[in-house]
Amino acid sequence: MYDLVIHNAKVVTEKGIVEANLAILDGKIANILPVMAECEEPSQLPESKEVIDAKGCYLLPGGVDAHTHLDMPLSNGLKSADDFVSGTIAAAVGGTTTVIDYACQDANGTLMEALTEWKKKAKGACVDYGMHMSIVRADDQTLSEMADMVSQGVTSFKTYLVYDMRLSDEELYRVLERSANLGTIVTVHCENYGVLQYRTKKLLAEGKCEPKYHAVSRPDRCEGEAVNRVLQISAMADMAPVYIVHNTCRESIKCIEESRSMGHPVFAETCPQYLLLDDSKYELEPEECVKYVMSPPLRSKADQHYLWEALKNGTVKVVATDHCPFSLAEKKRGLHNFTEIPNGGTGVEERIPLMYSEGRKHGLSYVEIAKLTATNPAKLFGMYPRKGTIRIGSDADLVLYDPDKTVTITHDILHENVDYTCYEGMTVEGYPVMTLLRGQILAKDGSFTGKMGQGQYVRRDLP
Ligand code: URP
Ligand code: ZN
Ligand code: ZN
Repeated sequence: MYDLVIHNAKVVTEKGIVEANLAILDGKIANILPVMAECEEPSQLPESKEVIDAKGCYLLPGGVDAHTHLDMPLSNGLKSADDFVSGTIAAAVGGTTTVIDYACQDANGTLMEALTEWKKKAKGACVDYGMHMSIVRADDQTLSEMADMVSQGVTSFKTYLVYDMRLSDEELYRVLERSANLGTIVTVHCENYGVLQYRTKKLLAEGKCEPKYHAVSRPDRCEGEAVNRVLQISAMADMAPVYIVHNTCRESIKCIEESRSMGHPVFAETCPQYLLLDDSKYELEPEECVKYVMSPPLRSKADQHYLWEALKNGTVKVVATDHCPFSLAEKKRGLHNFTEIPNGGTGVEERIPLMYSEGRKHGLSYVEIAKLTATNPAKLFGMYPRKGTIRIGSDADLVLYDPDKTVTITHDILHENVDYTCYEGMTVEGYPVMTLLRGQILAKDGSFTGKMGQGQYVRRDLP
């Protein structure tokens, strides 16, 4: 006797799409029974306490968003607008059942203190969650503590080459070397700090202070240079596995392609904003333009094209969101000085609908999109096969996706705690109509129906 059978679904597995009855027991996928007959009557279904008729919709693996910033404090006193409750409710409704957020070491604090604090913040989470650990100083104590993180189920670290928490090249080298030794992976935000600081000062001195100049301060080569540097340093540091977050442009991707072709363990992520929005947003009025101030900034249409190709040829393995919203009023603080605009955009709820709709238009299959949005991040970050896939024994984290449901995205239909969406007015073909976490229904028809605190911390294993 199963707890639940989902009947009449097109099940998106890693090997292909099968018409099957999917049986769930104790929160796990217990069986995937391909449908033989043309039309199976409910009486022929395996015995189960509950049956859901998928009505021919696709059953996708619950999304794994490997890049969110929930409840993230900035040095100017602001905090990202979504905390672990609102952000994970939004995630659930949008078809994401696991997020991997960034616990951030305090300037004078330990990694363990940061992990404890972030787990406390995450208590109300409504989807499952893991943590990357952001390292802001590579002193002996921190390097030693990296091993303690592994025993806490944290198998990935985050480093920044910009912002207050940036590391020097020496520090980055030490973190990479230690990580290679531990078998973990280091994720890196790549931009050249010196160049963007100099360009910023120059722009401000010339009176070029409007939001659009944020993008001018940090061009594509600023990113490409930093990606190249990180790849060279990681190769020197015992060929440490490295994951470059939020790639936006050809300058980055071509370095990654080259390193990968030489067998370096280099992995790349991009985000829906870089695939679907472009730098023409910076021609909008300043009040609109502030919404798109993020780092790295939006790039050209040619870069977008390059990113789509990189998804198709396997150079980019993951599409995550970098969800880091601030209210419009907070963004507008920098209307007259772009350096005062809190960086970041929306996406935790929009990612799955956008990627299945736009990805298919760009020639990606359901199976390929499922890999980019769920399977690959789960594999890279030690959650697979528990998460990110539909197979027997995996958590029953599932999304029923109606390919015929057309939705125009507007901020008022979303659950993100912010008064705009970067994707306002975009129409998607297909939408999640039900999300299940470990066999429990979390969201239905655009509404959250789950419970606060239903999410669990996912201890991760070394890949
Ligand atoms: O602008 C962005 N991306 N803000 C969030 C923090 C980061 O750099 O990922
Ligand atoms: Zn970043
Ligand atoms: Zn980020």
